[in-house]
Amino acid sequence: MFGRNGQEFPDKGAQPLRESAGIPHTSGPTCMKSHTLAANAKIPAIGLGTWKSSPKDVSCAVKEALRIGYRHIDCAPAYGNEHAVGAAIKECTASGAVSREELWITSKLWNNAHLQEHVQPALEKTLADLRLEYLDLYLIHWPIAVSNTVFFPRSAKDYIPIEKAPIIDTWQAMEKCVRKGLVRYIGVCNFHIRRLDALKRDAAILPAVNQVETHPFLQQNAIADYCRKNNILLTAYSPLGSGDRPDFMKKQSEPGLLDHPVIGKIAKKHAARPAQILISWALSRDLLVIPKSTHPERLKHNLDAENVILDSRDMQEISSMDAGYRYVDGSFLESPGSPYTRADIWDE
Ligand code: A2P
Repeated sequence: MFGRNGQEFPDKGAQPLRESAGIPHTSGPTCMKSHTLAANAKIPAIGLGTWKSSPKDVSCAVKEALRIGYRHIDCAPAYGNEHAVGAAIKECTASGAVSREELWITSKLWNNAHLQEHVQPALEKTLADLRLEYLDLYLIHWPIAVSNTVFFPRSAKDYIPIEKAPIIDTWQAMEKCVRKGLVRYIGVCNFHIRRLDALKRDAAILPAVNQVETHPFLQQNAIADYCRKNNILLTAYSPLGSGDRPDFMKKQSEPGLLDHPVIGKIAKKHAARPAQILISWALSRDLLVIPKSTHPERLKHNLDAENVILDSRDMQEISSMDAGYRYVDGSFLESPGSPYTRADIWDE
């Protein structure tokens, strides 16, 4: 049921905490300064991605995924389908097909809820939509803050500059949600190393996960190394290249991953599908990976990717595909007058 690289997480409610090191912490109860606890909770390495799935399709996809053995679902309010994911999960737990405790459910804080007073209400809305009492993992979706009254920014006035919504403030509100039992673990998405380092310096609860775009064209080796050294799990989003992105997020000509000759050759060698090679590549790097599909046969192939074992030659060939190429480049968040730039988001 768990991927071959099923990742270890600490006990329920025991996210890795800042070790005391004699530094008094002014925020949070005293136990927040305690040492890291024994690790034993597990997050399945392959999760079902739900970005770009319509509510109708995602409902069937979640039910089918749970039926065939997925236990990790990656969600976000920005995907516009959490209510449908929630209904499907409820149906499966109510029928006894699966229990809540077996599931790993991740969701994300959208950019319009970074101010401290908006964090818990945003999480509660997600919990209501997902029909859950708690989340396993809650991530800051982007290091970008926009006004609570907009969803996607269209002009300068829609943004909140980072000085007015510092990440650490948002994080502390998320830490409170952990203490209240609304979420077991917290983490981030789209964070570069300097930003992770700054967060680590000030956080009482260390980020458990950083979710970033990763695939053979964007291997993210530096972030992967940093995360490995700092006990942060890296989740690969868009592992198949997210070819079903809306047109406004696409460039005129884009390189294809699923039809890339190197991936095709390795797939042939293993009698596997190209998608399985891409997923297996992520697993071989000890990443969490969240391929999206709404087709039963693909859901199955993607889950079965854990049985496709790449050898060092395959890994070498794929490693030569790195091109620093982003499918999701963040330009859709950079409307005129934005105080946020892509250069800053990616530190490039
Ligand atoms: P579909 O949902 O119609 O199955 P990503 O996970 O990188 O966002 O990519 C999702 C895209 O990849 C979707 O277009 C999805 O199509 C497609 N996809 C998912 N699994 C497979 C697979 N096994 N073979 C080919 N395409 C796949």
